Amino acid sequence: MNVSLVAGQANPRLAEAIAGDLGVELTHRIVERFPDSETHVELMESVRGKDVYLLQPTAPPVNEHLVELTLLADACRRDGAARITAVVPYFGYARQDRRAKGLEAIAGRLSADLIAASGVQRLVVVDLHTASVEGFFDVPVEHLSAAPLLVRRLRSHVENGVVVAADLGAVKLAERYATALSLPMAVVHKLRLGPESVKAMGIVGDVAGRTPIIVDDMIGTGATIEVAACALGAARSNPGAIVAASHLLLVGAAVERLAALRLERLVGTDSVPVATGLPLPLEVVSLGRMLAEAIGRLTRDEPLGDLAWHG
Ligand code: R5P
Repeated sequence: MNVSLVAGQANPRLAEAIAGDLGVELTHRIVERFPDSETHVELMESVRGKDVYLLQPTAPPVNEHLVELTLLADACRRDGAARITAVVPYFGYARQDRRAKGLEAIAGRLSADLIAASGVQRLVVVDLHTASVEGFFDVPVEHLSAAPLLVRRLRSHVENGVVVAADLGAVKLAERYATALSLPMAVVHKLRLGPESVKAMGIVGDVAGRTPIIVDDMIGTGATIEVAACALGAARSNPGAIVAASHLLLVGAAVERLAALRLERLVGTDSVPVATGLPLPLEVVSLGRMLAEAIGRLTRDEPLGDLAWHG
């Protein structure tokens, strides 16, 4: 079965990196908006009989990129692709995994259904908001983790550090960092009051006199990191916190918030495009090689082993 790589518009640079690593060309396609804002996609080459890998994180604008992903999958399915694997390094809507306040939609589940209904037969994701989101999908999910890449980047800077889970949801991820870096761990007890409003209720663990390495799956508005850093300062941690997050969405006032914290380092990945020239100590590690390796192994039906999420 020949491989075809089809990319949406969400992260062209990462798509090029993956294609370059695999030594294949991206399939030519058109993605355009009709005047009424409908999305229209068209493959310019056939993928009939191909093992298709569809590259598209649901980066902001999330809805547009999700629709693009489903339309591209539908186009591949209708053309007769042998198998369609969606590679979604950042899966948006994963935070809406339950009816937290009642009378809400479970958008994570619905997005999973939409993706599967569009013809996607298998999904590759990186550091899902919670691992249990995998259960929303009826198709197989290969859950990878960027943590080993980020840990490798952090290793040189961990003297007297403490790994801090930015909230209770980040505990599993933080455990992984703490083990790999041989550091103690602490957890911020965070309460979310609204989309851009969170409050730190306390810290579990000893952070006084230690340099915090705050770990989270994603940074959206930066509010979580802001309250975590402030709570850590109040608990007498060392100044100059380090932050590691898999997905750097940096929306809303995130850049201003994080800049004001005077972080020592902000380490993340290119699962979504990250602007250059920001006033932040950013270190962006590319997922290109890891995703290319995963695609290579999947085409050969080999296990993903060390690339997979463990938690
Ligand atoms: C929430 O539970 C996530 O793990 C992140 O902590 C959160 O989504 C980050 O969003 P923000 O940067 O807007 O606080």
